[in-house]
Formats: sequence, structure tokens, C-alpha cells
Amino acid sequence: MAAKKYIVKKGKVYWPNEEMKKIAWVKSDKIYREASKSPVKFWEKLAKEGIDWEKKWDKAYEEKLPYFKWFKGGKLNFCHNALDRWAKETPNKTALIWIPEPLSERPLKITYMQLYDAVNRFSNVLKAQGIKKGDVVAIYLPMIPESLIAMLACTRIGAIHSVVFSAFSADALRARIEDGEAKILITADGYYRRGKPEDLLHKAKKAAKRTTVKRIIVVSRLGQKIRGRKFLDFGEEIKKADLCYPPATVNSEDVMFILYTSGTTGKPKGIVHDTGGYAVQAYWTTKWNFNLHNDDIIWCTADIGWITGHTYAFYGPLLNGATTLIYEGSPDYPDFGRWWKIIEENHVTVFYTAPTAIRMFRKEGDSWLKKYNLDSLRVLATVGEPIDEEAWLWYLKKVGKERCPLIDTWWQTETGGTLINTLPGIGPFVPTVAGKSFPGTKHIVVDEQGKENKKGESGYLVQVSPFAPGMLHGIYKNHKKYVETYWRFKKYYDTSDGAYLRNGLIRVTGRTDDVMKVAGHRLATAELENAINENKKVNECAVVPIPHEIKGQVPIAFVVLKGGKGSEELEQELKRHVDQKIGPTARPERIFFVSDLPKTRSGKIMRRILKDILKKEEPQGLMTLLNPEAVESIKDVVAGNQ
Ligand code: WTA
Repeated sequence: MAAKKYIVKKGKVYWPNEEMKKIAWVKSDKIYREASKSPVKFWEKLAKEGIDWEKKWDKAYEEKLPYFKWFKGGKLNFCHNALDRWAKETPNKTALIWIPEPLSERPLKITYMQLYDAVNRFSNVLKAQGIKKGDVVAIYLPMIPESLIAMLACTRIGAIHSVVFSAFSADALRARIEDGEAKILITADGYYRRGKPEDLLHKAKKAAKRTTVKRIIVVSRLGQKIRGRKFLDFGEEIKKADLCYPPATVNSEDVMFILYTSGTTGKPKGIVHDTGGYAVQAYWTTKWNFNLHNDDIIWCTADIGWITGHTYAFYGPLLNGATTLIYEGSPDYPDFGRWWKIIEENHVTVFYTAPTAIRMFRKEGDSWLKKYNLDSLRVLATVGEPIDEEAWLWYLKKVGKERCPLIDTWWQTETGGTLINTLPGIGPFVPTVAGKSFPGTKHIVVDEQGKENKKGESGYLVQVSPFAPGMLHGIYKNHKKYVETYWRFKKYYDTSDGAYLRNGLIRVTGRTDDVMKVAGHRLATAELENAINENKKVNECAVVPIPHEIKGQVPIAFVVLKGGKGSEELEQELKRHVDQKIGPTARPERIFFVSDLPKTRSGKIMRRILKDILKKEEPQGLMTLLNPEAVESIKDVVAGNQ
């Protein structure tokens, strides 16, 4: 069928056309004004319409900063909302399409009823292991259906899941297990990546040694036999388990999951999300941002190790009773046509990915796209980092054929769901501009003192009360850090992003703290520095991000050795060390061995100066340095003169 026109262009800006408006859930920008009259009432209405509650809340919103609660006194079960109601209404509808990486394996379609069956059984498996409401379960799984089964089973029981990205190292997993005091670890023997089996089990075993983890439940993805008293086979246990596990009733404000993310210090923070508020925001943002209807097939390419995977690969689509697709492997396996082939073969209608991926495909050329029919696509979206105009236009023109609205969604692990973006039936779609605050939420740009910048000057992006329902409920066991990180403006939530307003729309420019986005992955410079400093030969180091054509940013490390000279081998050794401590996603692009780092008189490393040197700009403020002579010698090293 010939593609229909969904968007119109006026100057450099795109708008939805009449046809798009007809099928859009939200068609008029009146919604913003209506919602802002009483955001709490607005969210109450959405909560009633979108979510099944066992008991209605007594109080919709309570704020005692720095904490706030949504739907206090309300009771519900998340799994009932994401699964049971659809298993009853549309049992034979596909809930999940799973695409394994090897082309020799067939895709798997799992209906709501089949998923219901598996989740009930797996809840019983967890129960048999003593898991109950409020216990923490660590999940270290690749993109396979068992991830969804395991996560949903936790929400059925009321247990708290803590998902750890499968490319993270054993050390990174251990730190997260220890912080959450997880009782059970669910993992796999491995998965396929670029045509090769990748190990998980060895990393998982190493990470769980001498921790609170009593049992490891292992999915046999690679066909390994799992032995040992500490281990259970996921597939076998599920077969033996009872079919029925009634969903537990939980309070709206009870913790549903923890997800670790990078802050400004070396230690990742456990971001705490509750149940009711998160469910409401996940449901409505998925429905309105992607204009999700019953017949939609949504593919969010994010890994479940990240918040985007949680909310838009799994929970948002299932709360809406839609079909979601996940893919196990690499976008370039066996070639750069793989993603487009998946879209064509599975009639994907909503496609949500990261700017890094778009830039990579753009670089590979349009020929891969031309081989496939992408007419099924209706809405395109991006997330995770600022998108540049070229990548935005390429995505809109080449992938969406100027037919699909392109939604740039701004949000964070902390916000649980999207918060700033254009809605597909309203527009405008402007390259590099995220758009407006989601109805019922408000963001402004402030200066250092917390005073609002009304004239479009750059400043700090903050959220204004009442805070969105999906927002974090603190940092796991770390009140102090929560207050320091997010509440320096007292009455506003500090996003740690910079932004400015353009014609009433928000343009997000990037982090204002020492956090990088490397290929969309969130990393702290301090985490990398800690990892490198652990090497015996290293005296001290500094890590700074530099812009990268595909990945957005990459880390560069400057290392001062205790003695001796740097070498190619040592650079490799340190990179391997980072792989081991955090994971290959954090590997520095380059390591420069220098004799000294620029420091203030109080001993603070001046990373800004290192950035200037890398950008080949003249560093400013050398007068305040303790050791200005370090700058010339670093310049020489970077220029390759030493
Ligand atoms: C950045 C990812 C510009 C931002 C959901 C934020 C973005 C951080 C956008 C959170 C966007 C996310 N435009 N920047 N559309 N979306 N960011 O926790 O710096 O992995 O603070 O959550 O990503 O990253 P996180």
C-alpha cells in the first residue's frame, strides 16, 4: 500500500496534517492549558482512566520536599495492569515479538495468554525461593523474553527488581547486588552478539560470590547445562511450577524497582521508582507520544538494562495492551540492513531509538534502507542525548520518508517516563528541539540562583511542582545524596541538564555536571577515574568527554603514572581494566600519559582545561593554576610531539 502523507513542512518546521490529527489521541494544544489549570486533577483523571486500582487513593498528591507522593492510599498490582487485564480481554493477541540474533533461529511470538501463564509460573518459582513483597531481585539478562517474564513476576509478587545491563562487568554487577542486598540473581548462560556467543554466567557467578545472593536462576540461552547447588534452571523450574499466582496488592507508593545510574561520584546511584505514579506516567506517555492504538507494533531498541528499555520496550506498551518487539543482537549483524529487515518483516509501526544509532546508519549510507519497505512506520522517536539537525533530518526523510512525525523525547532514569517532547497530533516537529513539557508537568530554565530565565537565555533545566507522577522516590538508602543531587534549587527538581527556550519550546543542550552520554549510555567521569586509578601503575588521572561524530561523546583519559613511561601496551591494559571494572561501553577512546594534571591551588583537577586542549582551543584561566607549566607539556602529548 502506498505510503500516506502524515506531516507537512512550513519553512524548517514540520506539522501534523489533517490525516494525522484524525487518528491522534491528542489533537489540540488546548490540552496543555487545561492540564496546567490543575495538574493534580488532570493526573487523577488519567490515573482513573488508564489504570485498574483495587482501592482508590485517599490523597492524589502530597508534597513534603524533597519527597512527594502520588495516589497515596491507592492500591493496585502492576502486573495485573500490564498483563492480566489483557490476558482476559485479548488472550490471543501477541504481547511480545522476540527476534533472536542468529538468522537460523526463528522469531518468537508470545501471546498475552502465554505470557500470563509464564509469569504466573515464574512467580511461583520465586516464591519457592522465599521471595516475597519488598525483597530485591537482581536481574542480569540479555534481550530475551525471559527478561520480561522475570520482571513482571517481580511486580506480580510485589518484589523489587533491580535490572543490571548485561554488558556491565562482574564488578559493576557485584556493586549493584551489594547495594540492593539482592537475595536472588536471575541471569543467562549467555547470548548472541555479532554472530558470536557472549558469556554472562561466568560474570554472574563471579559477581555473586560472597554476597547476599542465595540462588542464581539461569536461562539456558546457549544450551549450557547448569550444575551446582546454588543454581536453578529457569526453563525447568518454570515447567514444574504451579500455574496460578494471584497478584499481590501493593500501595501506590510502594517501591516497584531500583535502577542504578551514574551521578557525579564514582558510585552509581540506585534510583527508586514507586508503583502507581510510575504506571500512570508510563501508560499515558506511551499512548500519547507514540499515538499508540490497538493494532500498533512498537519497537524501542533500548536495552532493558536502561530506563528506556524498562518503560518503552516493556511496561508502557504492555500497560496499553499493545505488541512490543525486542531484538537480541547487534544492529549491524549480519549487515547494516538488519534493523530495516526487522521493521519490514514485522510491520513495525512505532520506532524508538537513540541518535547514536541514527548517526551510525546515516554514515553507512542509504543503500541499506532502500532494500526494505518501511511503509508500516507511523511514528518515529529518539531519546537519550541531544540530536543534531543532520541526523534528525536524515531520520525524518530517509526512514520516515517525511511521512512520520519525529518525536524527540527528553527524560531521565530519574523521571521514569518521558517529560519533554512534541505530541504527534499537535507538533511542531523541529530539528534539535525537544518541545513542550508533557501535559500536567512544567519545566523552566533558571540561572545559577534559581531565578527563571524568561528571555531565552541558556540556563539550568528544572521541574516545577507538582512533580510528575513517574518521578523517582529517592536514591536507595541514600537520602543525603538525593538532596545534594536534585534539590540545590530547593523548590525545583534539578535535572542537571542545560537548556534554553526557543519560541516557547525547550531545547536541551546537554549535561551541566560531570556525566557523559556515550552512545546514549550514561557514565560518570568519576566512575571511570576510579576504575583507572585502581591500577597499581597509575598515580592519578582525569577523564573528560569530547564530541564524537557517531557516539555523541567519548571519554578521553589523562593518566599520570607512578613511574616509568606510558606505552601502547599500558594503554591497552588500562582499557581492559575499565572493561573489567565497568564494561566495554565505558572504555576510553584514547589514553594520554602525561607528567602532571592542571590543578587549582586547592588541588582540584581542572578538567575544563583538558577539554580546551583536546578541542585545540587556547585554555583560559591559567593564572589560577598551581602548575601552569603542565599545560604546555599536555599540549605536546596530545599533539603527538612527545
Ligand atoms: C540526556 C535516558 C537531549 C540528558 C532516558 C539526560 C537527552 C540524560 C534527551 C538522561 C533528549 C535524554 N535530548 N538530551 N531528547 N534524552 N537526554 O538517565 O542529558 O540514561 O539528563 O535516561 O540523557 O539519561 P538516562
